[in-house]
Amino acid sequence: MANVVIVGTQWGDEGKGKVVDLLTNYADYVVRFQGGNNAGHTLVVEGKKYVFHLIPSGILYENKKCMIGNGVVIDPAVLLEEMDELTEAGLPVTPGRLTISHNAHLIMPYHMLLDGADENAKKDGAKIGTTGRGIGPCYGDKILRNGIKAGDILDESLFREKLQENVDEKNFLLTKKYNRDPISFDDILRQYLDHAEKLAPFIGNVSVELDQARKAGKHILFEGAQGTQLDIDHGTYPFVTSSNTVSGNACTGSGFGPSHIDEVIGILKAYTTRVGEGPFPSELFDATGEALQKKGGEFGATTGRTRRCGWLDTVVANEAVRLNGVTGLAITKLDVLSGQNALKTATSYELDGKRYDAMPGNIKTTSKLNPVYEEMPGWQEDITQARNADDLPVKARNYVKRIEELTETPVMLLSVGPGREETMLLRNPFEK
Ligand code: GDP
Ligand code: IMO
Ligand code: MG
Repeated sequence: MANVVIVGTQWGDEGKGKVVDLLTNYADYVVRFQGGNNAGHTLVVEGKKYVFHLIPSGILYENKKCMIGNGVVIDPAVLLEEMDELTEAGLPVTPGRLTISHNAHLIMPYHMLLDGADENAKKDGAKIGTTGRGIGPCYGDKILRNGIKAGDILDESLFREKLQENVDEKNFLLTKKYNRDPISFDDILRQYLDHAEKLAPFIGNVSVELDQARKAGKHILFEGAQGTQLDIDHGTYPFVTSSNTVSGNACTGSGFGPSHIDEVIGILKAYTTRVGEGPFPSELFDATGEALQKKGGEFGATTGRTRRCGWLDTVVANEAVRLNGVTGLAITKLDVLSGQNALKTATSYELDGKRYDAMPGNIKTTSKLNPVYEEMPGWQEDITQARNADDLPVKARNYVKRIEELTETPVMLLSVGPGREETMLLRNPFEK
């Protein structure tokens, strides 16, 4: 039995969905523990592309159980849409296949309106470039103890009470602060009672189910969203998302005890990308950056925005290893680097004569950091057909070896294409 957490080590979109889908083969349970439909996880199975925002990436296996933990914020309309799409694809999501924590908070229509209004009111330079899905305002209400939980909509009188308080408060903000139209209590009530009826059979106690699964010796895979540099505490604040993305939250965000976690896998893209605003020391503004963007198909799966691209950064990777307790790295998109004459890696930063081996806590300093690069020869060969590490050109193997040295962490998976089969699993975390 093994319980494994998967996290992004950079600014998201590292290929977590693909790796979760692949490793689900060896797991019994797959659990989302934070984030919401700001995430976009793309899986390619037998040539068919699936994009999930909320439902765990393990859902494509019929005999596995998926869980949405208390740390996730749920837009019920998006969840129901994803369930409908899966039904259309011949994979109906039944209560036996999905449990939603009664403690997960719900994204309400006013959260989306406030997300947009707040971004709009910010000056250039202060805008975060959020996904506009209501994530920040929903987590904000949770922390302020005003939130509405999945379990609350099953109790109409409790839901009415909470909704009324929220509508009164949000209408004050919308009309007085942001000069927007008010929202209607009745419309939201009707809409959410309809969602409640559809979701009721799925809402339950994720913590209890996971405990029973663990005691029965089942394998549990925890699926992180976003990436370590987007963590609300440890990332490039305020240019972050509103949840803890690090592995510790796999426990808090699902109700699972930390002493039962066996492995933490950090997903590391072979180069770096970022969507939205905020510091990115190894960002490329030249033809190489454009080439990575094109070849890597670097468009956001949620908003369609072009992802900013840059060289690999092992300061960022080392932050992730430290903050998450990474026991193995999965390197993705190695194929995208084929054709580069030289590959640069940022191994530290420099500013005003001072060297930085970790992110400074000050955002103004972080945004001015100059990367210190080391350079390695690139390889020209197409590597998408490689299925064993030995199939890779020696220069690609050296690049991987150098990442292991710089991060002091073993690589346990290499990915050379979006498909399930375009993967080399060097060590299976579920086979101890
Ligand atoms: P996530 O948010 O971490 O799950 O990552 P996304 O799904 O948003 O972005 C990763 C993108 O890269 C998706 O379109 C994947 O299909 C694709 N992908 C994943 N691994 C590889 C790989 O090794 N090579 C290539 N070329 N594409 C990959
Ligand atoms: P996955 O799981 C990349 C970014 C947004 C924005 C910031 C805050 O696919 O890796 P939010 O809407 O969360 O308040 O936006 O965080 N962001 C992501 N970037 N991948 C994601 O998820 C992201 N989720 C949020 O672009 O900069
Ligand atoms: Mg993504």
